[in-house]
Amino acid sequence: LLKHSLITIAAATTLIASGLLQARPIEIKFSHVVAENTPKGQMALKFKALVEQRLPGKVQVKVFPNSQLFGDNKVLEAMILGDVQLAAPSLSKFKKYTKKLQVFDLPFLFKDMEAVDRFQQGPTGQKLLTSLKKKGLVGLGYLHNGLKQLSASRPLKTPADIDGLKFRIMASDVLAAQFEAVDATPVKKPFSEVFTLLQTRAIDGQENTWSNIYSKKFFEVQPYITESNHGLLDYIIVTSAEFWLTLPKDIRPIVKKSLDEAIAHGNSIAARKVNEDRQKIIDSGKSEVLTITNRQRQQWVDAMKPVWKEFEREIGKDVIRAAIKSNN
Ligand code: LMR
Repeated sequence: LLKHSLITIAAATTLIASGLLQARPIEIKFSHVVAENTPKGQMALKFKALVEQRLPGKVQVKVFPNSQLFGDNKVLEAMILGDVQLAAPSLSKFKKYTKKLQVFDLPFLFKDMEAVDRFQQGPTGQKLLTSLKKKGLVGLGYLHNGLKQLSASRPLKTPADIDGLKFRIMASDVLAAQFEAVDATPVKKPFSEVFTLLQTRAIDGQENTWSNIYSKKFFEVQPYITESNHGLLDYIIVTSAEFWLTLPKDIRPIVKKSLDEAIAHGNSIAARKVNEDRQKIIDSGKSEVLTITNRQRQQWVDAMKPVWKEFEREIGKDVIRAAIKSNN
């Protein structure tokens, strides 16, 4: 009888244990700062849909947009502590973890998004993805947003027009140098504060992509947007080594495949939004989109390009050279 009841208890324990396992899927918290109607917002939702469809009951993805869970400055620290499993910070926000990614902030480096793609997918770009390893982070892939434009309280056509204006930047020393090069004052602030800073006129302008300017309504409080395409805003999808390496072997490849497909989806949205969101801003009548002539553009290039030399040592000449080559 004793033996019988022991077996029953053992069986019950196994049942409870497996029940518990089933009841507790692996949770992936994906934290980001932008709105859902953006390339990154849509990529995150696609990833959730794919993973949960392919690994039902085994993996659950919770997406937190709009800096709801963590803002720019905290998310990577939180990731190392295990409080969040996925994020996609802009390439300008990794300064504490590696200096090499600063290459992506150099003004007027990439001729278009095809060049960016060639560089990211080529050997140097792929090596840069691993540059976070020493800090316990794993770069799982690049995601596009696009080229940045300058929005401001006054029309900017040449570098002389920006003189003395306060510009919000992401926490990047290259971006600070870029604005100092044209005698503007850069102010490092998290993305979640930008709208209010613009609205209250605590700052005069900011640089961002069409999709961010549209989805966060910056165009409603900035009367002028100069179509400058002067720099890049892209992302790395990042996780912690500890989380990634302890994912079960049958699960990790499915998560990675879903991520790759979600990135492709996000990239196609990024390509579309350049025109769509730009047009929506124009149609709103709330902000004037200014184009600049080749000669005016050259003035911006001449003023800002010396920044490359300033950061050459930290980034590495070879990395910059490879990026330049991707334009051909
Ligand atoms: C910004 O801070 O302006 C951007 O990095 C926001 C984002 O993630 O696109």
